[in-house]
Amino acid sequence: MNETPLWASESFWKKTAIWVTAGSFIILVVLTFDSLSQTRAGSKRVPAYSVINKKIDYQYNAELHKSVPVIGETELLFGKAYTEAEAEQLVKLGKLTTQAKNCMNCHTLLGNGAYYAPDLTKAWLDKGWISTDLRENLMVQFLMHPEKNARTFGSNRKMPDLNISEQEAKGVVAFLKWMSSIDTNGFPYHFKTINAEE
Ligand code: HEC
Repeated sequence: MNETPLWASESFWKKTAIWVTAGSFIILVVLTFDSLSQTRAGSKRVPAYSVINKKIDYQYNAELHKSVPVIGETELLFGKAYTEAEAEQLVKLGKLTTQAKNCMNCHTLLGNGAYYAPDLTKAWLDKGWISTDLRENLMVQFLMHPEKNARTFGSNRKMPDLNISEQEAKGVVAFLKWMSSIDTNGFPYHFKTINAEE
């Protein structure tokens, strides 16, 4: 008698392979739906697009040991109260513009992209915009004519003119304002906002 033990038999490993593959597939499907529900606009960490009508800040929370977005009272963008559908349309135009012009070739968005230029996750709250009153117009001007409005952050790097129209620039500003409201679990770390007191 020279019988093959179970663990060495071909059928055992075939069945194991099938169960592991099927099990992993189910876990992946569950994780996909879970991620989708957590990254959808209007969920706990990702506010609905109409958040662009609100004041957004990013403040250190000592209990959580990280900065969290703080959504405040009304602070209109371009002097207009957007409905959810209008806000979605404008943010979408901004997102499509960042894709069409390949901003990620130089910048990171939510940490993804290239490291040539600053991360844009909280660019809406960047100190470089000087004052919250001037900010939205400065941003539009900068995006349309970056060479004439260069800021360089001491890096001597300049953003090239990407032929962005005024409407596209407004969309990008709305997209960046919305993105700054996302709870990114403390990323970027130690970010001093335009509202921070010295
Ligand atoms: C070829 C590289 C390059 C590309 C592509 C590029 N940028 Fe920039 N961008 C830079 C550099 C360099 C700076 C910093 C220098 C400056 O401010 O003049 C900058 C600065 C910025 C700032 C100010 C950063 C802050 O924190 O306030 C914003 C906003 C910005 N870019 C948005 C965009 C958007 C939106 C796109 C795509 C439509 C884009 N950039 C594409 C190189 C690039």
